[in-house]
Amino acid sequence: MEQQTTAQIAMPRIGDKAPAFKAVTTQGDIDFPKQYEGSWVILFSHPADFTPVCTSEFITFAVMEKQFEEANCKLVGLSVDGLYSHIAWLRSIEEKIEYRGHKNVEVKFPLIEDISMNVAKLYGMIQPGEHTTQAVRAVFFIDPKGIVRTILYYPLSLGRNFDEIYRALIALQAADEFGIATPADWRPGDDVIVSPAASCSSAKNRMDGEEDMECQEWYFCSRKLPKEEVLAKVLKK
Ligand code: BEZ
Repeated sequence: MEQQTTAQIAMPRIGDKAPAFKAVTTQGDIDFPKQYEGSWVILFSHPADFTPVCTSEFITFAVMEKQFEEANCKLVGLSVDGLYSHIAWLRSIEEKIEYRGHKNVEVKFPLIEDISMNVAKLYGMIQPGEHTTQAVRAVFFIDPKGIVRTILYYPLSLGRNFDEIYRALIALQAADEFGIATPADWRPGDDVIVSPAASCSSAKNRMDGEEDMECQEWYFCSRKLPKEEVLAKVLKK
């Protein structure tokens, strides 16, 4: 048997219940994911306070927070720094940093202190091959029932793409609301994928244009889904 070179890392998988924890944050104590029931939540980690890539990411998330809120999604950050470090860093960002034209940005979403690394370890955010004492850039999408639906991981040097994070959130919600799948690079208004036909006859019906679908082959069927229909379901009025 091949010898394992790194220790096994426990982490939740897609479809698992989000592991529960209680923590102290910059916005008070939280009971996760219990207090987020009924909302989507993005739980994300960053390596360290007072670092440049993380600073650019926090400004970006803070600027987009309202957009996420309108899609019924709350943001929760984490690093293995302490509460006073978090508070000092967020104050410094607000007072001193400008990124892509955004300045005086106040981070209003909670940032978890995790000096013990308990939460980071619970979510597999410490990846020893990358760094033994800092969390990588993990992003967990957790649905209103507390189920992990998507996981993204980036190394320390690579700032995340926030358009993609928002796009993935809307695509997950569209899949739930309309029972469809979303093809490569999908955005609201693009055609959506209808699952492959279960039988030859329904495939033939589909290829004959039944049910408003267009099939190029039995395994490749799509239909229109207007942007307004998606947004009406996903965005809060
Ligand atoms: C940063 O956020 O800039 C960063 C953090 C840890 C390692 C490298 C970069």
